[in-house]
Amino acid sequence: MLLEDQLPRIKKLIREKLGPLPANALQNEVVMRTAFRRLYQALPRMIRLAVSEHGFVEFCMANRERLLNLGDVVADKISAAKTVNIKEVDPENGNNTESGQNKTQTTAEMLATAKRVFLPTYAPNLILTRSKGAKIWDREGQEYIDFGAGISVNSLGHQVPELLLALTEQAGKIWHTTNLYLTEPAIKLAENLVDATFADRVFFCNSGAEANEAAIKLARKSSSLIHPPEKREILTFEGSFHGRTLATVTATAQPKYQQGFEPLPEGFRYCPFNDFEAATEMIGAQTCAVMIEPIQGEGGVNPAQSGFLRHLRKLCDQHNALLIFDEIQSGMGRTGKLFGYQWEVEEDQLSSEGAAPNLIPDIVTMAKALGGGLPIGAMLCTEKVAQSFKPGDHGTTFGGNPIVTAVAGAAFRKINTPEMLSGVLQKGAIIRQHLETLNDELSLFETIRGRGMMLGAVLSKAWKNKAPTMVTACQENGVLILLAGPDVLRFLPPLNISEEELKSGLERVSKALKDFHHAELASAS
Ligand SMILES: Cc1ncc(COP(=O)(O)O)c(C=O)c1O
Repeated sequence: MLLEDQLPRIKKLIREKLGPLPANALQNEVVMRTAFRRLYQALPRMIRLAVSEHGFVEFCMANRERLLNLGDVVADKISAAKTVNIKEVDPENGNNTESGQNKTQTTAEMLATAKRVFLPTYAPNLILTRSKGAKIWDREGQEYIDFGAGISVNSLGHQVPELLLALTEQAGKIWHTTNLYLTEPAIKLAENLVDATFADRVFFCNSGAEANEAAIKLARKSSSLIHPPEKREILTFEGSFHGRTLATVTATAQPKYQQGFEPLPEGFRYCPFNDFEAATEMIGAQTCAVMIEPIQGEGGVNPAQSGFLRHLRKLCDQHNALLIFDEIQSGMGRTGKLFGYQWEVEEDQLSSEGAAPNLIPDIVTMAKALGGGLPIGAMLCTEKVAQSFKPGDHGTTFGGNPIVTAVAGAAFRKINTPEMLSGVLQKGAIIRQHLETLNDELSLFETIRGRGMMLGAVLSKAWKNKAPTMVTACQENGVLILLAGPDVLRFLPPLNISEEELKSGLERVSKALKDFHHAELASAS
């Protein structure tokens, strides 16, 4: 079969099966090849019998301008409008708009504008413009290895071909519907989550705080249907972080996040983290739910002690309370398992030779890495709990948006694989080893804690309050790391970071901390 003769038919199929692809996707070889491979699978059997996948993909690649520029007038219009302002970017070579005619303001001027127009809730000093894999570049063309991954959001790095493809495909179909109507990507993602987890049902929203807000409301509603009004208390843990809405900031048992926002909602109580006895005392007839991060993130990368989550499960069962795991930071493969709490299941099985029953939560909240870089939150729960919500009890305009769920679906399928999860453990061990070796030389850290690729280096007493200076030193040396409280350096690199990027990032961390150490000792003497 001569594919040349089939050109109009292929164009039509592209319109039907792939939708309009913006011009920037055309330039991306991997995205285009993947798209054409998928198109091949959707071809009528007759064509597939006549042409091999390889032949078809190569033909489409060779003719992609002809096939796609004419493929959809709308896409062409979008790309034409875009190319007026945007020069094509080659992230690796730094050949970008920064040095082009679009740079009407200097970086200093833009930073001054940002300082003037934004609320002073953050104090950033970088304007980031482009990215690829685990690398990011600022407006001046300076390269950084991203060891923060957008605070555990870009867990697959940046410009991920599969996510780019999902985004561009869906962008050509439908962007928003509200939850008054269904869309395919949201249904598929919810089904994937249900199939892969303890959960029977899913509620989508837009952020971690909203997922926790939904969990708190569901727990209260569930209690209200069967228990007296006294049983509405939510127990959370000192050092936790659950979000910035009024309810979730109240659940966040750290006064610094709450001060000035009083009066806070009632019905929250705080228990010392990892304190078995305190938990036994505090969970009782009044408890409606217990909410906990299996590894506290913002609170200092602090894992729950072995047995603590199971202890809470037992207490919740004893007192008819729900157990909520906030996996917003620790979930989506970050620790080497889909969820951080699953480590406890494994430890239980090891210690009791498989006899321990599974640790099953009632509710799990997710966000961050679920969206692969787009905003999404999800609350997962059991059938029994889900039935407490009736139509109208809770809602959201954007939650489950088709573009976001299309990308999230691609991210979920890529992360939730044995290869990705075992890679997390291997790379996590490399980071830990590197930090420990560095510590042998500099004695900066009291301990290095966490799991998989969610690691915190806790500063020893002598270096207290120096973490922000260390983070800045790392940034100046081309690697972005995070704080977790004033005394913990937090490392959350993309889970699929390449060996080369990981090595280079760790070398930059070493150089930054050695220079810092040297400068501190010099200024003290
Ligand atoms: C454990 C945990 N819960 C909730 C949140 C709040 O998520 P969001 O900022 O998306 O509202 C965060 C954010 O850092 C978090 O780490």
